[in-house]
Amino acid sequence: MDAHTELGQDRAHSARMYDYYLGGKTNYRADREAAAGVLRVYPGALVAARENRGFMHRATRYAAEELGIRQFFDIGTGIPTEPNLYQVAHRFQPDARVVYTDNDPIVLAYDRALLTAGPPAAIAYIDADVREPETILERAAETLDFDEPVALSLVALLHFIPRGDDPHRLVARLTERLATGSLLVLSHATTDFDLPDSTHTVAAAARAYEEKGLMLGRVTREEMGAFFEGLELAAPGLVPTSEWRPDLDLAEGLQRLPGMISPDEVGVWAGVGRKP
Ligand SMILES: C[S@@+](CC[C@H](N)C(=O)[O-])C[C@H]1O[C@@H](n2cnc3c(N)ncnc32)[C@H](O)[C@@H]1O
Repeated sequence: MDAHTELGQDRAHSARMYDYYLGGKTNYRADREAAAGVLRVYPGALVAARENRGFMHRATRYAAEELGIRQFFDIGTGIPTEPNLYQVAHRFQPDARVVYTDNDPIVLAYDRALLTAGPPAAIAYIDADVREPETILERAAETLDFDEPVALSLVALLHFIPRGDDPHRLVARLTERLATGSLLVLSHATTDFDLPDSTHTVAAAARAYEEKGLMLGRVTREEMGAFFEGLELAAPGLVPTSEWRPDLDLAEGLQRLPGMISPDEVGVWAGVGRKP
């Protein structure tokens, strides 16, 4: 098998399509063609990706700077577009430890370079599927102390998990293991913000993903809230990604004015919950 086939460059990949929306360089022709198909029916995908990434930055900053959390457990890490989670956490907590988890060999290949670039004791990488929470928790415990607060992030991950795998049960199993003061940082695609008369919708984007053999699951507000059962939602609660604590934007991030971005462009719910 040549490197081209091994990295699956001949078929579209959701992590590389996301990299394309973000303006990254880790994407190939098949990814760009599939992304173009999504953008034709949902131009908001460009805004949605950037706003999702911005939410991850702000929630990580909130955990590190405001709550003093020094341990980060990121599942569905994706291609390490800069600044990546470790860089944000490290900026506010210089001795932060981060465990990155993804189940995709392509992502793993791209993340290897990052592992060697950072301080080795501070970043660990787990090649595993979120649908095996016991395995992931066991391996993460080699790096993280689960008796101390951990910020667990599942950002733009669960819309790639089929309903039959019960994403709510998976999240409950993971948060069960967290100590008091830990956080759950979660974002998920939704059709709740689709405008009724528009053809540019998340529903149409999901069909474009399906045409390429990929999936894009959607949750209602109620289903989103159910991920946070037993946790205390941090202000401002469940909101479109763009509306979660814009005051925490990084200096190098997008500089937005209030109301500049409408929820139908974003199409993703965001929330942060604290374990009591
Ligand atoms: C859209 S990217 C999100 C990247 C990053 N969390 C962010 O929000 O910027 C989704 C990532 O989830 C990963 N992923 C998809 N299904 C997974 C699974 N079952 N277990 C672990 N990771 C998975 C993909 O490989 C991809 O890297």
